[in-house]
Amino acid sequence: MSTELKKPNTTDKLALYQTLLDQIKALIDPNCGWVANYANTCAAIQQYFNHWWCGFYIVNKKNQLELGPFIGPVACTLINYNKGVCGKAWADSLTTIVPNVHEFEGHIACSSESNSEIVVPIIKNKQVLGVIDLDSKNFSEFDILDKEYLEKIAELLSEIPVNL
Ligand code: SME
Repeated sequence: MSTELKKPNTTDKLALYQTLLDQIKALIDPNCGWVANYANTCAAIQQYFNHWWCGFYIVNKKNQLELGPFIGPVACTLINYNKGVCGKAWADSLTTIVPNVHEFEGHIACSSESNSEIVVPIIKNKQVLGVIDLDSKNFSEFDILDKEYLEKIAELLSEIPVNL
């Protein structure tokens, strides 16, 4: 089976997300656990959008966010509840869009080159399993369309049990 992912030849973000969502649906392998499926999901997002950092933090047994599969520069490994953008999105159970991370109080700077960020909680039965975190070198990179489609991707991932 070919696992090659074909990105449409367009710069239209909606069109890209529509195809990406279909491709992630097809990519998720019910015979595999969360690591393979989360890893491929962030690879697929990166093939489409090539952000500065794209990955996951997962709620571990000590009730911290622990670094999961990602693509990009090395990142902090543990984030406490309600700390940083990730911890806040977790605490609020809400997608958090930060147009300028330097103005976000308590932002955790894993990379000095990141300027904007979106964090999307992955929620199952009202419980946050983890978060999707995207960082960009551009200011104001993320908008309501990213929120809408990343939440759809989070919903797909919420069906896969995580364990850390
Ligand atoms: N900036 C995040 C930390 C994770 S890194 O961006 C990969 C935060 O404030 O939670």
